[in-house]
Amino acid sequence: MPGGGLLGHLAAMAAAPHSFPAAALQAHGGLVGIRLGPRRIVAVGRPDLAREVLVTRADRYPRGRINRNLGAVIGDGLLATEGEVWRARRRRMQPSFRADRLGTLATTTDAVMRETLAGWTGAPIDAAEQAGRIAIRVIGGVLLSQRIGEGQGSAFVAAVQDCLAQLMRRNWSLLRWPLWVPVPVNRAVNATRRTLEAFLGEALDRRLAAPDAQPDDLLTALIRGRPDDPPLPRQALLNELKTLFAAGFETTATALTWLMYLLALHPQVAQALRDEAAPVLGDRAPGPADLPRLPYAAAVVEEAMRLFPPVYNMGRDCAADDDLGGFRIRAGTTVVVSIFAIHRSPDLWEVPEAFRPDRFLGAAAADRRNLLPYAWGRHQCIGNHFADLELVVALLAMVRHCRLELTEEAPVGMRGRTTLAPDRPIRLKAVPLA
Ligand code: HEM
Repeated sequence: MPGGGLLGHLAAMAAAPHSFPAAALQAHGGLVGIRLGPRRIVAVGRPDLAREVLVTRADRYPRGRINRNLGAVIGDGLLATEGEVWRARRRRMQPSFRADRLGTLATTTDAVMRETLAGWTGAPIDAAEQAGRIAIRVIGGVLLSQRIGEGQGSAFVAAVQDCLAQLMRRNWSLLRWPLWVPVPVNRAVNATRRTLEAFLGEALDRRLAAPDAQPDDLLTALIRGRPDDPPLPRQALLNELKTLFAAGFETTATALTWLMYLLALHPQVAQALRDEAAPVLGDRAPGPADLPRLPYAAAVVEEAMRLFPPVYNMGRDCAADDDLGGFRIRAGTTVVVSIFAIHRSPDLWEVPEAFRPDRFLGAAAADRRNLLPYAWGRHQCIGNHFADLELVVALLAMVRHCRLELTEEAPVGMRGRTTLAPDRPIRLKAVPLA
């Protein structure tokens, strides 16, 4: 794509890493070269090409610098590795994330929601702050069987979000100092890594010191592995813990933030959720087995993540010269799959910028094969069923407790940080149901 002078599209990409590639893709077809100073990346915004990168030719497009960059904080865990190390870890952890193993998640989320909603006593609430606290308590409970306290939770959310956002900017910057150089981004990265490692390392050491105390949580499953898995060294366990902790709260918190906003904007959707849940659940909270009987709730979550995909870009590095959609891709080129572009393409969705959960229901339902909030292929999110269930339980708890109303009319935009965040705080009032 032409333009941008010496630095190419660096400033545009850094300012809007979600919408800039999407606009370029819309103007130039499903594949476009973007120049970031001396470097050139290729953005992909067509489902067929995304499938080639992520599924059919995944060996040619392994994870590269973007995931390694993340690894600076969360270490070499599932999210930052490839090859044999990744494969062995994925096999070890996969069984714990099966849909039929998520009963504890549902009860934990329900308990967290009861406590949270009891605190909504009429004063305006901040959607992102509440969603962050909910998500961190849920992951603290399910991963560590530990209650993450109020102050601790907020401090964690702020530290990890801020640091990941700084790392994200590092993806597009020309100067990437080694981590030992004390420039601001590195200081933030190192401080967050230390905070995470101190907290999670202590939890891990307590568990390793008392092998007979084995609560039914993800940490126990990780330490044990499957019957034929070798034991993992402490640092590897810590890296996986950091990975699950970071991946498990930031993304779900963002999805929940947008869901709260959308519920406030569309009270009729909240009502339809109540109407669907009442005959299926009575007064109880949903468990994993209820999800198939709550198709509207599932559609609301899908539609929210279509419009606001928490993970909006995914990076891979081309390992050997390739031909993709008629484009020559040189080995070493970073290929960015724009989930945002695919989810908002007018070629794939009717009125793509409208929030219409109904589009996923009925005989003429939109094609879910164009939806990839959790990615496709071998690196597809291991927590996809986990997140779907957590979001449905949280969503239904909210709508059955209150009506959410916006306290300000001004429109809310998007900001491409680590995840796709709102560009301003969303203040809401929780009005008790009559
Ligand atoms: C709405 C919530 C979530 C979204 C949108 C989401 C999205 C994604 C995406 C797009 C990827 C692929 C990244 C890549 O390959 O570069 C991914 C991978 C991953 N996610 Fe999630 N995720 C969510 C929730 C969770 C939860 C709750 C957990 C764990 C508790 C989790 C753990 C992981 C892990 C470990 C990976 C790496 C998988 C692998 O490479 O084998 N995620 N996620």
